[in-house]
Amino acid sequence: MTDTALDISLTVNGERVSERVDARTTLVDFLRDGLLLTGSHVGCEHGVCGACTVRVNGEIVRGCLMLAVQCDGAKVETIEGLSDAGEIADLQAAFEQRNALQCGYCTPGMLVAAQDLLKRDGVPSREEIREHLSGNYCRCTGYQAIVDAVESVAQARAGKIK
Ligand code: FES
Ligand code: FES
Repeated sequence: MTDTALDISLTVNGERVSERVDARTTLVDFLRDGLLLTGSHVGCEHGVCGACTVRVNGEIVRGCLMLAVQCDGAKVETIEGLSDAGEIADLQAAFEQRNALQCGYCTPGMLVAAQDLLKRDGVPSREEIREHLSGNYCRCTGYQAIVDAVESVAQARAGKIK
């Protein structure tokens, strides 16, 4: 730790956290290395792949583009929090049923981003799903199964199971 360390307090997955962090530490590194919340992945480290997607104050952000110190006082939610709360249980089940993951590296970020879309009113079209997930890269699945899974959950949540 250098003399640029700062004290921060925030809420992570509903729990109050107070830590001293280096001013240069990214949010995703803080979550993974500082809090051992390793569900958020690190891919490109420059905001392109979406593997590090988390929620800050209800909005999805790239954990690699945000500094931990910028989250002082914020409410941070990770894939662990969404999963433990049961918020995305249907989405997780749909990904499994439709083989929407292979290596799983992109999956936490993909789920957090998909849930961000599904929280909105209305049932998104396949085009809207693709557009919303266009910042989340998957090197394995070819995306078709991911769109299928998200679409099926959108339909189910709206009471329109296909
Ligand atoms: S690791 Fe953050 S967008 Fe790729
Ligand atoms: S499942 Fe491997 S990168 Fe998406």
